[in-house]
Amino acid sequence: MTPTSKAPEEAIEGGPGWGRSVLMCSPEHFDVTYSINVWMDPDVRVDSDRAWRQWEHLVSTLEAAGTEVRTVPAAPGLPDMVFTANAGLVDGTTFTPARMSKPERAPEIDHVRGRFEELGWTIEQPPAAPQEGAGDALPFDGRLVAGYGQRSSVSAYAGLRTRNGWAVTALELTDPRYYHIDLGFCPLGDRTAMVLPEAFTAAGRSALAELVEDPVVLTPEEGAAFCANAVVTGRTVVMPHCTPRLGRELERRGFEPAVCDVSEFGKAGGGCRCLTLALDVELDRAAAPFT
Ligand code: ARG
Repeated sequence: MTPTSKAPEEAIEGGPGWGRSVLMCSPEHFDVTYSINVWMDPDVRVDSDRAWRQWEHLVSTLEAAGTEVRTVPAAPGLPDMVFTANAGLVDGTTFTPARMSKPERAPEIDHVRGRFEELGWTIEQPPAAPQEGAGDALPFDGRLVAGYGQRSSVSAYAGLRTRNGWAVTALELTDPRYYHIDLGFCPLGDRTAMVLPEAFTAAGRSALAELVEDPVVLTPEEGAAFCANAVVTGRTVVMPHCTPRLGRELERRGFEPAVCDVSEFGKAGGGCRCLTLALDVELDRAAAPFT
């Protein structure tokens, strides 16, 4: 995104120029029935009523912050479909469906694709190798900052760059607790971001140091509480947890934390961000280098 492409009120408000419209899926069928990440234990019971209340609170918090929430109907037998971030990648009104690395989640894609068809969007082919949507690739200054090595494959990004001309900075994820990049990196605008260093290799940390000005560096405890898994809408940071220290760091940069307890979804390894898929992303298509 170039500064000139932003609406004037966004330029004044600050924050990323996206996140004002999101796709969500209700927790009607949410549960932990299998384990595909280290946070998931099928023996731990999900409190469905509490999950509903938490999800509705997230929706109302996003709406109060000025974000439009659209939904895709939940489907039986797909307990993780609530995590719409993983369904694919958005650029303008083009949707590139994800290629899920876990067979348990693969059938979600048809449902979400159907919803985008209904909205009249252009649907691209999914990448040839696993790539778990916006959960593993976040817009930052018109490019994608993308994770690989856990659930997405680096070759998927090379393919997307060649086909769509997107600039991609692909970073290796090393810690199984932070299996998607949205657990370790959260853009706060085009220049700055929250960063959890331990999610990345030394090379990844230096790439981020080049890319991110004045980063909000998360402590290990903040990382494990999924503080990076936040939806940034204008100047509001809707996050599953915040510490006083982190709150001050955000406020010093002009942001206001809004905590939404989504602990039931934490049992599946997700936070606020993974429960949303941003619909208002515009990426540069300049065939910039793949790094
Ligand atoms: N149980 C889901 C999975 O492991 C959680 C997905 C969280 N999504 C995310 N973008 N971090 O796939």
